[in-house]
Formats: sequence, C-alpha cells, structure tokens
Amino acid sequence: MTEQSSIIIRKFELKDLDQVMEINKQTLPENYPESFFRTIHAELPSAFLIAEMNGKLIGYTMARIERGLSHYSIFHRAKKGHTVSVAIRPEYRRKGFATKLLKESIAAMIKHGASELFLEVRVSNIPAVNLYKSLGYEILKEINHYYRDFESAYLMVQKVPKTSKHTS
Ligand code: COA
Repeated sequence: MTEQSSIIIRKFELKDLDQVMEINKQTLPENYPESFFRTIHAELPSAFLIAEMNGKLIGYTMARIERGLSHYSIFHRAKKGHTVSVAIRPEYRRKGFATKLLKESIAAMIKHGASELFLEVRVSNIPAVNLYKSLGYEILKEINHYYRDFESAYLMVQKVPKTSKHTS
C-alpha cells in the first residue's frame, strides 16, 4: 500500500482530543483550551476532520458556521464558513493531506448552508497562504496586529458558487 493510499480522512471523535491538542501545540502559536475544541466539535461535527495514517493521527482541521455581514455585499448578512485551524505534523507535510482535509471540511460547511468561506492567516505564513489560494481563497484585506504577538493577519475569503448544493 502506498503512503498516499493509506491516509484516512475521517470525522473527529472525542478520543482524538489529546492528539489534536498535541498537534496544535506542536505546530501553531494559537493554542486553545480543551473546551474550545469540544465546543467547535459540538457546533459542526461534520467539518472537524482528522487525517490518520496507519493508526497515527497526523493532522486535523476544524471549522464553524458564523452568521454575520457578508464579505461581498456590505448591506447583506450571510452564513459564513470559518476555518478555525488546520495543521499537519511536520514530517507529513507537502503530500496533499491539508488539501484533502480542507476540501472535505469546506464541503461540509457548504452542506450546512455556507454561502461564503473565510479564514485568517499570519501574513508570514507563506505555506498556508499558498494552500488557501490553491483552494480558491483570495486575500481580502490585512488585519493589523491581529495576533497576540501583534503580527498581522490576512483575511482570506471565497464565495461559494450558487450551484453548490446545501441542506439548510
Ligand atoms: N511552501 C510553499 N507552499 C506550500 C508549502 C510550503 N512549505 N506547503 C504547502 N504549500 C502550498 C502549495 O501550493 C501546495 O501545493 P503543491 O505541494 O502542489 O505545491 C499546497 O499548499 C497544498 O499543500 P498540502 O500538501 O496540501 O499542505 P500540507 O499538508 O503540507 O499542509 C499546512 C500545509 C500549512 C497545513 C502545514 O504546513 C502546517 O501544518 N503548517 C503549520 C500549521 C499552520 O500554519 N496552519 C495554518 C494556520 S492558518
């Protein structure tokens, strides 16, 4: 079996929480308490996904739906799919795993009615900015001093095509 074919993308389960928190701490300066992961999972379980290889958890993504002002039409409100976090263990990067996770998570957000997608990313995080661009996101604006260490973020957005099906 090739490395690529042994990857499994599946829904997060609460038994995965310790490993997800470990990957989050290992890979990102934005770390969250256990309660945050649990809340995100409870809100939209179908968009909280795990990448697993040979029984080892190698990455995750989590997302939620937010209702607020549209990024595309200033006087309108929209259901917006927000990717909150994505990370892959360093030794498993550049194999398309984040792409697989995000494609499935995006599909779940669209299924739950998201008409727009957005996320924030550090302006210095070139791998992530490229990843998001490859998935159709565009930089809408820079948010100054967004992070605790005062680094700025890019707000990246994309509109869901009207032809995409959703259930609510
Ligand atoms: N440099 C430049 N572009 C990169 C890159 C890098 N190091 N890593 C990924 N990309 C871009 C490329 O366009 C790549 O396509 P290609 O390999 O065909 O050129 C595309 O993203 C898809 O890459 P993929 O293999 O799916 O990404 P990954 O599994 O390596 O995961 C991250 C990418 C960003 C999730 C991973 O580097 C990571 O976990 N980083 C630390 C956590 C983090 O920064 N998360 C994002 C927070 S907003």
